[in-house]
Amino acid sequence: MSLTSLDAWKQLGRHRDAIADVPVRQLFADDPERFARFSFRFDDLLVDYSKQRVTAETLRLLGELAVATGVEAARDRMFAGARINTTEDRAVLHVALRRTRPGAVRVDGHDVMPDVQAARAHLSRFADDVRSGRWTGATSARITDVVNLGIGGSDLGPAMVVDALTPYGREGPRMHFVSNVDGAHLDETLRRLPPATTLFVIASKTFTTQETMANARSARAWLVAALGDAAVGRHFVAVSTNAAAVDAFGIAASNMFGFWDWVGGRYSLWSSIGLPIAIAIGAAGFDALLAGADDMDRHFETAPVAGNLPMVLGLLGIWNRNFLGADTHAVLPYDQYLRRLPAYLQQLDMESNGKGVTRDGAPVDVPTGPIVWGEPGTNGQHAFYQLLHQGPRLVSADFLAAAEPAHGLPTHHPLLLSNFFAQTEALMRGKTLEEARAELAAAGLDTDAVTRLAPHKVFPGSRPTTSLLYRRLDPRTLGRLLALYEHKVFVMGAVWGINSFDQWGVELGKVLANRILPELDAAADATGHDASTNGLINHARRLRGH
Ligand code: F6P
Repeated sequence: MSLTSLDAWKQLGRHRDAIADVPVRQLFADDPERFARFSFRFDDLLVDYSKQRVTAETLRLLGELAVATGVEAARDRMFAGARINTTEDRAVLHVALRRTRPGAVRVDGHDVMPDVQAARAHLSRFADDVRSGRWTGATSARITDVVNLGIGGSDLGPAMVVDALTPYGREGPRMHFVSNVDGAHLDETLRRLPPATTLFVIASKTFTTQETMANARSARAWLVAALGDAAVGRHFVAVSTNAAAVDAFGIAASNMFGFWDWVGGRYSLWSSIGLPIAIAIGAAGFDALLAGADDMDRHFETAPVAGNLPMVLGLLGIWNRNFLGADTHAVLPYDQYLRRLPAYLQQLDMESNGKGVTRDGAPVDVPTGPIVWGEPGTNGQHAFYQLLHQGPRLVSADFLAAAEPAHGLPTHHPLLLSNFFAQTEALMRGKTLEEARAELAAAGLDTDAVTRLAPHKVFPGSRPTTSLLYRRLDPRTLGRLLALYEHKVFVMGAVWGINSFDQWGVELGKVLANRILPELDAAADATGHDASTNGLINHARRLRGH
């Protein structure tokens, strides 16, 4: 049965039409309890969705949609280790990586928890050895710099978390993340590093990814040029599921940190892929991050839909995307430490839910994953907020901030927070033509000027935002926030009936790049593509001296 033929879907469409003309500011005026009704507390984390364009009826109908689409059953299958990633025939068990409760988690009858615990112990030991100086480089010098070589899920998660938890990593080595196959990324990083005290972490689930392997080979050559072949074993470790390829690279099994095919790349920061996080903030800090995610997992697994934070945020995501037509979603951290969050969420959300067919291979009959983007506040205010406030396109947005700063300049913090709150207020309230006219008249403008300027000063308002406010951005809070987003994405994918855990869309370009690579420096011009692609390849060949 298609999504749009569900009774709950049709009712939501009619309900949308019925409330279309009611401004959210009116909903606040009508209901003094609106904030209490549409906000949620998870310890110190406040999630306020009362500025969304919803009523109690909207949430009731969205709850019915969740029932009709079997979201809870889908969630239960994930937690039970079922092979819900059907196109890759894999279980989806990143939740097992942060599970603190006793008890087995089985994939095909095998309890994965002892494997998870052994891998975590290996990672913790090594991370603390690097931090304490027990693990040294080949010249017995202490490690001062760690370079993670990985891309996509093997880069974005750890890079974002290490950045977010900078205040917790001040005693650890300096951390660097190199992902791009553009040699500029590695070259510019290595120029500043001393080989004798640099450790490389090659992070690749498959250990075949072109970008990561090219960077790993060049990093190896750089190190060998300075310290010789024998130094490689002290300066390279690997995080992967591919033991044979790691061995072939020359890394000993004891320096390989494993994980499993049931950990998707964009869900892997909780696995050994989190090694740079543990090196940066210590194993205890990494454990706190995992514990935060586990807090959210338990809530997601057990709370009824109406009081289940990831469920509610996921259903609001469906409402904004499919019923209000918001085709992009902005992530706006008023938290400089979260500056990489939008990039991380782009992969989490868009690689998961950017799909055009259902699990059965039939076309999805509604638009799926929104375009996710964003920048930290207040920078974004001076760049793109104009469009958020007055552009004709509806953009939904998340605002995030810590009540307590983690840096040493606390006088800045009220400035930051006041901007956060003012922006969500302005986006919701807007300004009517009458209000704009009254303001201009009060400023002493004549009637002609008022009439001419007023339309430019109108703000439609009712722009949907969710605010996430927490005490401080510590490892546990960050773990909660990230798991919240993971499960929100899950809920949206489950409603759409798509497989949120494969990524076939990345494949075609990879295959074609491998075909074009030898053509760039072949004896003759390329002729086997469309005229544009031939033209680009051959122009590059000329510029490269062919
Ligand atoms: O971009 C496609 C992708 O497969 C991502 O899903 C993954 O996170 C990334 O490539 C890196 O893959 P690997 O860890 O195998 O190098």
